[in-house]
Amino acid sequence: MVTVPDSRPWEHAGVRVVGGRLLVAGRDAEGLAREHGTPLYAFDVTRVAEQARALRDALARAGLTPRVRLALKAQRAPEVLATLRALGAPGSPGAVGIDACSPGEVRHALDNGFTAAEISFTGTNVSERDLDVIAPAGVHVNLDLLSQIERYGRRCPGRTIGLRVNPRSGVMRGHAESLYSGARPTKFGIYEEDLGAALEAARRHGLIVDTLHVHLANGMLDDELPAFDAALEPVTRMAETLLGAGCPLREVNVGGGLGTPLHAGERPLDLDAYAAILARRFTALGVAVGAEPGEFLANECGVLLAEVVSVEERLGATFVGLDAGWNIMNDAYVYGHRLQAMVAARADAPGRGEVTLAGHINEGNDIFAAGEPFPEVHEGDIVAFVSVGGYCPGMWTDHCLRPRASMLYFGERI
Ligand SMILES: Cc1ncc(COP(=O)(O)O)c(C=O)c1O
Repeated sequence: MVTVPDSRPWEHAGVRVVGGRLLVAGRDAEGLAREHGTPLYAFDVTRVAEQARALRDALARAGLTPRVRLALKAQRAPEVLATLRALGAPGSPGAVGIDACSPGEVRHALDNGFTAAEISFTGTNVSERDLDVIAPAGVHVNLDLLSQIERYGRRCPGRTIGLRVNPRSGVMRGHAESLYSGARPTKFGIYEEDLGAALEAARRHGLIVDTLHVHLANGMLDDELPAFDAALEPVTRMAETLLGAGCPLREVNVGGGLGTPLHAGERPLDLDAYAAILARRFTALGVAVGAEPGEFLANECGVLLAEVVSVEERLGATFVGLDAGWNIMNDAYVYGHRLQAMVAARADAPGRGEVTLAGHINEGNDIFAAGEPFPEVHEGDIVAFVSVGGYCPGMWTDHCLRPRASMLYFGERI
C-alpha cells in the first residue's frame, strides 16, 4: 500500500517517488532512460488490471451486473491486452472486454485473444468498407445515427444492436461543454426526439435493440459526478422508452469518461459514488451496466521520459527543450490537458521558477507546458511526464520524420 501525498495524487505502487527518484514498476526511471534511450515510454501494466478490478468491484458492490470493457483507442499494446485477458476467461464474471471503434481495432482485439462476444463496436461514420470487416466478425455494434441504422440494417438484417444516444448534456473536466453530448449538435448519438424514428428504422430491418449506449463525459473526478448524474436523466427515460416499445434491453452502456487525479489537490474518483449513481438510475430496469473507460484504465500506467537538450532564457522566459515532441504525445494538444512533469532524478523537488517545456518538432505550438513552476534543470537531465499511458502512446505521428518513442512494459504478466 502506497501512501500518496496530496501533492502527488498520480502516485501508485507502480509509479512512485522513492528517495526523491521516480520509479516505474520498481525501476529507476532515469536509469531506464539512460539504458534504453529517449524518448521512451515506460509502463507499469499491472496498474491497468488494478484499475479494471477496482471499477468492476465497485459496480458489483452497488448491486449491478458489471460489464467492463477497455476503450481500445486508449491503449492497444499486446502487453496490456494480455494483462486484461488474464483477469477472466471469456464469459466469466471477472472478464474485461473491449470497446472497438474501427475495423482495425476489431481485428486487433480478436488477434489478442478476445472473443467476438466480448467485443463491442462503437464507431462513427461507418462505411460499407468498414462493414466488410465488422459484419463477418460478429461483434455487437452500437449505432449512432439514423442513417447508420439504415446502412447496418440493409447489410445485416435481423442482427442484435445497440443504439448510441445523445442526451444533449455531458461533462468534460476543464471544459465548459462536452464534445460528445451538449447543447451544440455533435456527430455522436441519436437524439431523444429521433428515438421513435430509430426504432422504426430498426424494426424495418428486423434489428433487435438490446443495448442503450451513451458516452457523455471526459476526465470526471468527484466534482463532475452531479453533472454526470443529471445528464443520465434523459438516458434513463430513453431506456424506459425502449423497454416500453418491447425492446429486449439487457445492457445500458454508460461509455467512459472516468478521470484520474494528476495535479496537487485532486483526489481519485470515488468509484462507489459513481457506481451508486448508476445503480440509482438503472437497477430498476433490470439491465447489466456497461462501462468502457479508456483514460481511467490506461492513464496511470504510463510515463514518458525525455532528455533535456537545451535550457535557455528567451525574452525573460526559461525554455527547456526536450528530445520529444507532440508527435509522440499529442493527447494534451488535442484535448488541452495540463501535463504533470518533473525531473526524474529529483521528482520531489519543489518548483523554483517558471519554465516553458518545448519539444523538438518544428512547429511553434510544440510546447508541453508554458509558464509552469519547475525545479532547477540542466541539459542532460531526464524529464518525466506521468499518467500519460492512455491515448498518448497510440496517437503518435511521424510528422517531421521524428520516430516513435520506444516502449518498455513491466508488470505481472510480462
Ligand atoms: C464511445 C466511447 N467510449 C469510450 C471512450 C473512452 O473515453 P475515456 O477515455 O474518456 O474513458 C470514448 C472516448 O472517446 C468513446 O468515444
